[in-house]
Amino acid sequence: MTTTTPTTNQSISSSEKRDWAALERKYYQHTFNRSLVMERGEGVRVWDANGTVYLDLVAGIATNVLGHAHPAVVRAIQQQATQLIHVSNLYVNERQVELAEQLYNVSGGMRSFFSNSGAEANEGAIKLARKYGRLNRNGAYEIISMDRSFHGRTLATTAATGQKKYQDTWRPLPDGFKQVPFADFDALKAAVSNKTIGILIEAVQGEGGIYPASTEYMQQVRAFCDEQNLILICDEVQAGMGRTGKFFSWEHMGIRPDITTMAKGLAGGVPIGAMLAGDRADIFEPGDHGTTFGGNPIACAAGVATVRTIIEQDLLTHATEMGNYLGGKIDELAKKHSIITGTRGLGLMRAFDLAEPRAQDIMDRALERGLLITNAGPSTIRMVPPLILRGSDVDEAIEKLDEALAAL
Ligand SMILES: Cc1ncc(COP(=O)(O)O)c(C=O)c1O
Repeated sequence: MTTTTPTTNQSISSSEKRDWAALERKYYQHTFNRSLVMERGEGVRVWDANGTVYLDLVAGIATNVLGHAHPAVVRAIQQQATQLIHVSNLYVNERQVELAEQLYNVSGGMRSFFSNSGAEANEGAIKLARKYGRLNRNGAYEIISMDRSFHGRTLATTAATGQKKYQDTWRPLPDGFKQVPFADFDALKAAVSNKTIGILIEAVQGEGGIYPASTEYMQQVRAFCDEQNLILICDEVQAGMGRTGKFFSWEHMGIRPDITTMAKGLAGGVPIGAMLAGDRADIFEPGDHGTTFGGNPIACAAGVATVRTIIEQDLLTHATEMGNYLGGKIDELAKKHSIITGTRGLGLMRAFDLAEPRAQDIMDRALERGLLITNAGPSTIRMVPPLILRGSDVDEAIEKLDEALAAL
């Protein structure tokens, strides 16, 4: 038998400059079109491998809620790593309970189950709703979600995602999902049958282009679910963690779902997912659901530090103020640049539409000027910056965006 010398430590031990983008094309499956190599981050800024600095209004797509390398998160990870990196869910781990306690308090009494991603959190929510249907609604199992929604990349969450482009390649998709137009209560009512068990909705749609539902609609849906014995699931993976100025975006609409899911920003950038259930839906029993890594001590330590920082530093108020400021500045840009046809948002979740499908051109021109922004489809620009963004950062971002738009 021949053996080869391992070379995996090369990146750590060698000072040789490697062409990471070329190596990525060689070694990594082609699931992402990318070439910019990011090396480090601090606060609202990231640096690429050439030392170029960028103002980051993408924040790992709404994930680095406290920016990069926040001292509270770094300290929590370091401290926890020396104490306990992983222990099975066969045992209680202290950080997991602490994070669940924080979420219980901010959600008005919902209990947690932790996973590793948003898709997985939604899978848990779907399973929980199905169990409720088996026990309380004659075996009903169908989930109704919304057009233009996004709920993840597993097969079930792909089936729940209301965008054809994410679904078509993977058919046949799991049974038991259908979509209705977003924020159309009559369409929702008409779609419900005796097979239906739950309504899955983003109170503010993220990937679809930052569309907040109205208070009236969400209250109608809440009342309808109560009346029909349906489970209301709010997907807060993108809009949660204070992004809209409230801890959960559904708080704006004066409702509380039966189940809510989180991920992205919950541990300040460390992978985590959470599925929270209120009294009515809190029916999992031992053996129903499980995970190896979900609720891992490192992820939960980072989560505890992130939630504590958001609350203690009143980043909810800050996100509201900065969101209004950023929204106002985008409205000014819209008056100046006719390519902008509409602006939307809530808190630090902002978008503007374009008259032509030129989002990529705008992102490229912003990048050249040291600004990271993202899109939601070819004709919408999206900004989901860290909650620690300051007014001067907004001014700088708008100046760069103004130049990028002028350079089209
Ligand atoms: C609303 C929403 N739900 C679920 C997901 C899936 O999360 P993850 O990529 O962590 O699986 C996303 C990701 O963008 C999301 O925005």
